[in-house]
Amino acid sequence: MPTDSPSAPAQPARVLSGIQPTGRFHWGNYFGAIRQYIELQAAGDAYYFIADLHALTTVREPDRLRSFVHDAAVDLLALGLDPARATLFVQSDVPEVTELTWLLMTVCPMGLLERCHAYKDKKTRGLPADAGLFAYPVLMSADILAYDATLVPVGEDQVQHIEVCRDLAGSFNHLYGDVFTLPAPRLVAGGGRVPGTDGQKMSKSYHNTIEVFEELPAQKKKIMRITTDSRPVEEPKDPDDDHLFALYSLMADEADVQRMAELYRRGGFGYGEVKKALVEAADAFFADARARRAELEADPERIAAVLTDGAARAREQAGRVLMRARQACGLTPAGRQS
Ligand code: ADP
Ligand code: TRP
Repeated sequence: MPTDSPSAPAQPARVLSGIQPTGRFHWGNYFGAIRQYIELQAAGDAYYFIADLHALTTVREPDRLRSFVHDAAVDLLALGLDPARATLFVQSDVPEVTELTWLLMTVCPMGLLERCHAYKDKKTRGLPADAGLFAYPVLMSADILAYDATLVPVGEDQVQHIEVCRDLAGSFNHLYGDVFTLPAPRLVAGGGRVPGTDGQKMSKSYHNTIEVFEELPAQKKKIMRITTDSRPVEEPKDPDDDHLFALYSLMADEADVQRMAELYRRGGFGYGEVKKALVEAADAFFADARARRAELEADPERIAAVLTDGAARAREQAGRVLMRARQACGLTPAGRQS
């Protein structure tokens, strides 16, 4: 059956996303990104990678980078990433991507990168920016195009980079023929903006994070210190306008969330009670993942095997796309296989 026939089955999505190993994962990373990546394993062929080349623009201590990469792999597996269904690998294990970055760089207008926010923000604040940060969206484009990805789940802050990717793929295809598959962003739904301990967006840069696998006593301390307003206990409150409630509702059972919302509307409760309930809800929500994490941490060979296998699968795919690109632009004679 021809593939353009109206009754042809839709191609399954090729899902791809990357996450930077710039620290331990926090609740914002989990509810805003990782949870959706894991759900999308079922949507088709999925590729997830630990973006260590991107992290190099901020993490300058080799030991820290190594341990963040290791922890990211263990955390993702503990949180439900299944290597039998998704390919998990480390970005720098696929050198084809850096070569592809160069090919894309040659069709990338300076102005396009000057408008990208990571670089623009630094420049506006008068901070020094290196060429790595400037070219970051080109590396990210190569990450996506190397795997013929069709669907890229990302947070809102990354949508601009997917647009850059589509632009570069379009320019390359226009010059050299149909080489790259154009991807679409998939805004991660559900997590929204997870608040931090001070009510602002949870982010490493604001020092207001609660880490997913933080030791429980330390985590409890942080939760008990979440900022709250000074309204009296008896006053009824709007649950939808409270960051403590927002965190609680991410982790508690639906019935408990309803009960807590009632309590807010009725008044007559202290924020301390809500914090205690949040400690318990978080503990229960991540209990299985914590147990899996402990098992994985005790088996470093298993982690190494998953990443080695992931890199081999990723390289095979990226190698095919790179060869297509090299032949199209005249670097490799047409028809050569490797
Ligand atoms: P940080 O701001 O702590 O440095 P990153 O920028 O590394 O976090 O975020 C990695 C991913 O997690 C991104 O896709 C981002 O959209 C998501 N994310 C981070 N913080 C939050 C948050 N507070 N709420 C929702 N999503 C978040
Ligand atoms: N830049 C992304 C972030 O900071 C991480 C990333 C790198 C990525 N390459 C990617 C995400 C490719 C999606 C696709 O969150």
